[in-house]
Amino acid sequence: MKISDIDLKRSWPALAGIGAIIAVLLAAFAWAAGLLGQRVTNTSFLEDTKPVFPAGYRRAHGKGMCFEGVFRSSGAIAEYSGARVFSQTETRAIGRFSIGTMNPHAADNSTSTVSMAMMLTADNGQQWRMKMNNEPFFVTRDAPGFLAMLNATAPDPATGKPVPRLMAVFLADYPEARKYMEADAVKPWATSFAGATFYAIHAYYLVAEDGRRQAMRWWMRPHAAFTAWNVKDRMQASHDALFKDVAQRLTTGPLHWDMVMQLAAPSDPVDDPSQPWPESRQQVVAGTLEVQRVFDQTDGVCRDINFDPTLIPAGMALSNDPVLATRAGIYAHSYNARLHEIGYGKATDAVGKKAAQ
Ligand code: HEM
Repeated sequence: MKISDIDLKRSWPALAGIGAIIAVLLAAFAWAAGLLGQRVTNTSFLEDTKPVFPAGYRRAHGKGMCFEGVFRSSGAIAEYSGARVFSQTETRAIGRFSIGTMNPHAADNSTSTVSMAMMLTADNGQQWRMKMNNEPFFVTRDAPGFLAMLNATAPDPATGKPVPRLMAVFLADYPEARKYMEADAVKPWATSFAGATFYAIHAYYLVAEDGRRQAMRWWMRPHAAFTAWNVKDRMQASHDALFKDVAQRLTTGPLHWDMVMQLAAPSDPVDDPSQPWPESRQQVVAGTLEVQRVFDQTDGVCRDINFDPTLIPAGMALSNDPVLATRAGIYAHSYNARLHEIGYGKATDAVGKKAAQ
């Protein structure tokens, strides 16, 4: 059949219909990619970081160090969860210490945020991945709130200070952020990863063999004492003070953290990461992490892992916390970008090569 054989008059409604379907599909793709409208997408969080990022590095927490160790279960959580990691005596742990700045070459005294990421792999092959910071709760109830905070706290180019009016609007929209900002203003700066407490922040469910579900949050509580920098010492601290400290400490023996699980009461908010639960809630030590060795992140073992906090073993379940879900999307995006750069040979110091002169 030739085109001239087609009866255009009879076919045009069908052709118009096909055209309309194609237009709707194109619009839907553009919307999903964030090209249409004001929707918040993964690129809203990451797009403006591209030009400042050396290839192959994480788009946040770029400066880090891998660690290796074991998690020893206490057995106390096995009645709440069938996950093997809670009954197995020892589980292999791979992790990463990092600081919260975007710049992978930042000085260790440039941020008060210190972090631990970890992947536990049980003997049945099931993995549990996590990313934790030294803050017990998130600033806002959702992820767009985090972007709103970044905008509200950005310095005005004219004055070098945030614009009070923008901050007032932000706090009116996200009143829960006030308590985070007050805590952040007086937060002591840790002199060592070893004495810092790392919080997973989001609630998860422990799921027992018989299907019972118990909401919980966990944090890693150090055996080493917490010590804080005073302002003078902090200003004078060496560029890699925190990473050198942890490596130095490990020359005399392993470092330990208890995994403390806080069990929610039925009335506690499960899906809001900005609302910590009362301290009176029952706490159970699920086990103890022993960090045995640290090594350079360019070696790859932790470099090429996405410590996605939504990857959990059977015997646990995710809450509907919207920040948790958003983080999974953002992390996959950052991971894809950096692995793409490494795979296509664009990365230099991120993989231990010298940059071309
Ligand atoms: C919406 C808010 C957040 C955004 C936009 C964000 C963004 C990012 C990005 C882009 C990365 C790099 C990921 C990679 O390439 O593997 C990252 C890493 C990290 N984030 Fe977040 N994050 C957020 C919330 C949080 C929260 C609530 C925590 C702690 C509970 C956290 C802890 C970490 C840690 C520990 C790392 C380093 C992980 C590693 O060593 O691989 N983040 N974040």
